Amino acid sequence: MKLQGKCALITGAARGIGLEFARAYIAEGARVALADVNGEAVRAAARNLGPQAMAVDMDVTRQDSIDAGFAAAVAELGRLDILVNNAALFSAAPIAEIARTDYDRLFAVNVAGTLFCMQAAARQMIAQGQGGKIINMASQAGRRGESLVAVYCASKAAVISLTQSAGLNLIAHGINVNAIAPGVVDGEHWDGVDAFFARYEGKPPGQKKQEVGRAVPFGRMATAADLTGMAVFLATPDADYIVAQCFGVDGGNWMA
Ligand SMILES: NC(=O)c1ccc[n+]([C@@H]2O[C@H](COP(=O)([O-])OP(=O)(O)OC[C@H]3O[C@@H](n4cnc5c(N)ncnc54)[C@H](O)[C@@H]3O)[C@@H](O)[C@H]2O)c1
Repeated sequence: MKLQGKCALITGAARGIGLEFARAYIAEGARVALADVNGEAVRAAARNLGPQAMAVDMDVTRQDSIDAGFAAAVAELGRLDILVNNAALFSAAPIAEIARTDYDRLFAVNVAGTLFCMQAAARQMIAQGQGGKIINMASQAGRRGESLVAVYCASKAAVISLTQSAGLNLIAHGINVNAIAPGVVDGEHWDGVDAFFARYEGKPPGQKKQEVGRAVPFGRMATAADLTGMAVFLATPDADYIVAQCFGVDGGNWMA
């Protein structure tokens, strides 16, 4: 019970990695607000997790929605100790075909969403006066460019940079800001990624997934459960002296 008595908010928690983190945090004794733009799915997810979970309708691209979502979570949980900035979108296209609307959408969710959720959490944690933990979901894609994935890679590089600046700024309040950079994690997100590559590389559906899985030094794609150890660790006092870092949990794909 490493998170007994702690209260967390996880964005993008209706499915995938965010949902798995919510399950792991609850197993460690936390109460968790699962926030997502997909209200119906996040309510079902929270119901399945039981009384330690609550659902929050939140669109991280809208300030009024962030403000209302954090207020609802704090009203119900009583406080906020942990934020996981997990909500994100993916897209792929050759440079010559990138649409400005796609760029705006990805940066609104992945970058501005991360920044202004950090801000909302930091304001609450500073007011509480007992520090806190903020964990941002970056990606191996934020460590280097990829030919067809310019916008997503740039957005995740921005998440790493925001983690560094916010980490330096907020540690004065006892708030640790760190990031996790997964490699390739199987799930609905990667089904979408596979479809992009099927379109641009002419591969049959499912082939890209097999290729990236085989290329991981560990020998397979990750499952969301492979990431929970790091997500729990970064939320505990064991991580108190860790500031502004980004940790690869990627089976050896990238060496920082
Ligand atoms: N799956 C991977 O291979 C992988 C690899 C590296 C990094 N990541 C990162 O990990 C995180 C989780 O990935 P995942 O695979 O679980 O993704 P996912 O697509 O399965 O889940 C993302 C969730 O975010 C929600 N969301 C989207 N826009 C939102 C908005 N405006 N406001 C609130 N919620 C919104 C979606 O409804 C969804 O529930 C993301 O930040 C992703 O970039 C994933």
